[in-house]
Amino acid sequence: MTEQQFIPNPDSYREYSNTIESGKVTWESPSNIALVKYWGKKKDQIPENPSISFTLNNCKTITTLTFSKKEDVHNFEFDVFLDGEKKDDFKPKIQTFFERVEVYVPFLKQYKFKIETENTFPHSSGIASSASGMSALALCLMSIKKLLNPEMPNDYFNQKASFLARLGSGSACRSIEGDLIVWGQSNAIEGSSDLFGLKYPYRVHENFTAYQDTILLVDKGEKQVSSTVGHNLMHKHPYAKNRFQQAHDNLEKLKPIFESGDLDAFIALIESEALTLHAMMMTSMPYFILMKPNTLEIINKIWKFRQETGLHIGFTLDAGANVHVLYPKNEASQILEFINNELVAYCQNGHYICDQIGFGANQLTM
Ligand code: DP6
Repeated sequence: MTEQQFIPNPDSYREYSNTIESGKVTWESPSNIALVKYWGKKKDQIPENPSISFTLNNCKTITTLTFSKKEDVHNFEFDVFLDGEKKDDFKPKIQTFFERVEVYVPFLKQYKFKIETENTFPHSSGIASSASGMSALALCLMSIKKLLNPEMPNDYFNQKASFLARLGSGSACRSIEGDLIVWGQSNAIEGSSDLFGLKYPYRVHENFTAYQDTILLVDKGEKQVSSTVGHNLMHKHPYAKNRFQQAHDNLEKLKPIFESGDLDAFIALIESEALTLHAMMMTSMPYFILMKPNTLEIINKIWKFRQETGLHIGFTLDAGANVHVLYPKNEASQILEFINNELVAYCQNGHYICDQIGFGANQLTM
């Protein structure tokens, strides 16, 4: 598969059959948490290695895109609002996104847009909103495309939404559908692609149904290292080659784990992935420590509790200090009690978010 398949073609449903003067579309799109991490990318948002994530259910962005035809078709014209407040500092990122996707959605300069967005999670939670935000915006653009072109099949809609979302933020391409999404070419996963996310196509044991993710907000500040800077650290990184190979191997190892429901093996693999991500940051030049003392306190408490109880509690980390505590639904009551009694004390202002595996984005009628 190549980028070409997403460029409008005059002889197919990819070309526009309708004309629309104005309208409004709304999507809610979730965040996701990677189990095998995407860290390192090539030109045009192509990942250095395949990744896989759980789509989340509660942490979402809701975006309404209002559009109306304009005279001048030489520039992009848009305003962005977060929680009703105009946000000009969001504009450069969206401008870059529009520039990257214009060839695939060539109507962009014909309309003036109002982008209104809100998140279900607190803005200053240290939770990245780029995956949910960029996927919601990509879906809104696809909805306009579908209005212009109603015969577009659903599969193509989702695949192209993921393709566009990737050009906004890599991990965003894993937020269109659920519950487990693979992004990046892997010999172990048929149909996987560097260009868009794919629903994990093999059997998944019921142990993973409604898998829980409690996000402990250790540090709610702005990201210390932007994702662009972070990914670039993998260029010329002394361990890059081995790391990319390890991600391929880990994705392959997950297949029998998902099939058999082996939670011990699952936990070992995801914790190793999380710590490897941070190890890459600690060993790059320049180097960063994104964990905080409380991140380590939490990890040690999780390990001790797991050893004492035999419960299947594990963790993963993003490129920050917050801890995602992952565990199966049927152990939720004991593990939540432990979180409340022993881990919440390490969260900033005692804040945490309860989430679980979800099934992707939804269009809303407003
Ligand atoms: C550590 O998707 O935020 O969360 O493509 O530059 O927007 P850009 O990066 P982004 O990187 C996410 C990195 C990660 C791991 C992951 O989600 O796989």
